[in-house]
Amino acid sequence: MRLGVLTSGGDCPGLNAVIRAVVRKVERVHHGTVVGFRDAWRGVLEDDWEVLDVARCRGILPRGGTILGTSRVQPYQFPDGVARVRAAVDRHRLDGFVVIGGEGSLGAAGDLLRDGVPCIVVPKTIDNDIDGTEMTFGFDTAVHICTSAIDRLHTTAEAHDRVIVVEVMGRHVGHIAVRAGLAGGATLTLIPEVPFDPAQVADALSRRHAGVSFASIVVVAEGALPVEGSMELPDYEVDRYGHQRLGGISQWLAADIERRTGIETRVTILGHVQRGGTPTAFDRVLATRYGVAAADAAAAGDWGTMVALRSDRIVRVPIAEVAGRVKRVERSFYDEVSAPFFAS
Ligand code: F6P
Repeated sequence: MRLGVLTSGGDCPGLNAVIRAVVRKVERVHHGTVVGFRDAWRGVLEDDWEVLDVARCRGILPRGGTILGTSRVQPYQFPDGVARVRAAVDRHRLDGFVVIGGEGSLGAAGDLLRDGVPCIVVPKTIDNDIDGTEMTFGFDTAVHICTSAIDRLHTTAEAHDRVIVVEVMGRHVGHIAVRAGLAGGATLTLIPEVPFDPAQVADALSRRHAGVSFASIVVVAEGALPVEGSMELPDYEVDRYGHQRLGGISQWLAADIERRTGIETRVTILGHVQRGGTPTAFDRVLATRYGVAAADAAAAGDWGTMVALRSDRIVRVPIAEVAGRVKRVERSFYDEVSAPFFAS
């Protein structure tokens, strides 16, 4: 077997653990070869690659980032993209690709499959918003990083009787916000799935701070939005792939809280620190299991599938079933935890 591997989209702790596991399983068990392409599909389109073997992957298990580099380049961004991918398949005598990527990669992998390019996807994103799997690797690490940041912010907020608004990643979904908000004992947690009312946020904080000296942590996902017409927001910039460059809702919210309540309010935007550094033990194990399962799926010729976690087992699900779908925080779960924990 000859397998192409690439890491695509925003990076995520555990990418190297997946690469290492694919390489070990292919080399040691399936007696095949892995060709790693640099910077996602750019490496395939421009023939930028290296052979990956067990020796090359030594020491990478705990390392964040990706030894292959990543980008948001997809074949369908170019008129001759698919032809160039097919040419790479022929040139390297590949059976197919293992694509370690998120929602964009799933869509492209599904299209490539229809165009005759065999792909298997390993679901990757700290946001944990890929449908069909209970967990993506990188999510657990991001939640740990946010929780330990919130723990630290509690003590400084208490020392000054302040509100601190902590902005975490989550473009369309609030999985990181809800888990970190719960684990960190946040006063309020605001997520994209449930528009917030700035007046209610301010009321809750005013009630909590009334007459007593108190600190509050408000966790807000970067994609959270106020109910329509309740707050004016800036237009977000768009990057070269058409993604809105989010980040900043916390500043607007903090200014609004301070104006309405008179309580001194500060902002911490955790940003890319959530994606950097070493994966947790949980993510290393999950990423390793995904890598092994992807190599096995390729060896079995089960192309067009995504490896997924379900009830602690790794299964294969058809890409067509999950591409284009977003796994959101369930309203019932959010309501259930909001009443006792995020109401004030
Ligand atoms: O990995 C997904 C994500 O973390 C989103 O939550 C966030 O909006 C996005 O990546 C930002 O990525 P970048 O800054 O690399 O464009």
